[in-house]
Amino acid sequence: MKSSQSPQRYDRNQTYRWNYDHAPESTPHEDVPRVAGEWTFCGLPVDSPLGIPAGPLLNGRWVLYYAALGFDVLTYKTVRSSARECYPLPNLVPVGIDEIHGNERSVAMSDEMKGSWAVSFGMPSTSPDVWRRDIEWTRKQLPSGKLLSVSVVGTIQPDWSIEQLADDYAHCAKWAVESGADCIETNFSCPNVSTCDGQLFQQPQSAAIVADRVRAAIGNTPYIIKIGHVVTEEEARELLRSTGPFINAVAMTNSVAVPVTDTTGNPMFDGQVRGICGQATFAASLSQVELFQRVIASGEKEISIIGVGGASSADDVRRYLTSGATAVHLATAAMVDPLIGIKIRREL
Ligand SMILES: Cc1cc2nc3c(=O)[nH]c(=O)nc-3n(C[C@H](O)[C@H](O)[C@H](O)COP(=O)(O)O)c2cc1C
Repeated sequence: MKSSQSPQRYDRNQTYRWNYDHAPESTPHEDVPRVAGEWTFCGLPVDSPLGIPAGPLLNGRWVLYYAALGFDVLTYKTVRSSARECYPLPNLVPVGIDEIHGNERSVAMSDEMKGSWAVSFGMPSTSPDVWRRDIEWTRKQLPSGKLLSVSVVGTIQPDWSIEQLADDYAHCAKWAVESGADCIETNFSCPNVSTCDGQLFQQPQSAAIVADRVRAAIGNTPYIIKIGHVVTEEEARELLRSTGPFINAVAMTNSVAVPVTDTTGNPMFDGQVRGICGQATFAASLSQVELFQRVIASGEKEISIIGVGGASSADDVRRYLTSGATAVHLATAAMVDPLIGIKIRREL
């Protein structure tokens, strides 16, 4: 390796802390192989189909770090219209399951990270003045061929209507565009948040109200909705019918949500579900991409699919691409092995 430091990777023993204040100080200098072919992301030219979805990239320094490690679409972690604290520890709990489809009664924690974990952050955010400045700085540092997508979410208040929530989403989206975001993603699925802002993908009419206002706020900027686990054609069709007029792309799957138990079988997280991310979700996410591809192909609007969930090898990336995705984003695998982008590029 050419870099003077080892890549920063997730370590349960906290040798490195994966948080805002412990962002990498410098960018690595690795040889990043070119991926042959012409690639676009929501109509914008980009160097490869590889990206990082919302989550791991907490600020500009994390964005630049992964940009230097072979990822070309960098999604800035979901931000809000006001600062929000993170849920208490544990935020990442490895689970011992090889494949998950959402109908499991629960999954058990594992002492070892085997490729999948339960994620419990609750979409924390810095305040808008902090993230707006940071996005502006980040966009200026990113080399050409790379895109900065910014993920936003509305923050529901107890007496708010869906229109007010939609305005809050739109406000964040507009700020992100003004700060230089190349694309906007709205998170319509956070399995770890129990209010309706976490589950808009299951409420097509409300999702359409939000998507409409976001589109009005961001003009022609490419617009992606991030959705959760969908298994039926009817649900997929209805969601695309209602949001399709406003969006360019749909990113799936956020995670597969199930209750989690500790190693002795006791419920964790007060018995609430948590999103499982990582390799165990690959099969479910891939079949969701196939489902949406079929539904999109039978309609009139061209909507791109971003494959997210469980990818950890060049073969996984190829399978997403041949199933209809135009881009493939990796969170868990890239946190566990920051060099994975380079390894995948060598084989693509
Ligand atoms: C540490 C972590 C934090 C995440 N935070 C967010 C988030 O803030 N917003 C969001 O839309 N998805 C979030 N996700 C979900 C990821 O974007 C992605 O959909 C999920 O991890 C599946 O991809 P993977 O199997 O490659 O990890 C997060 C995932 C992880 C692992």
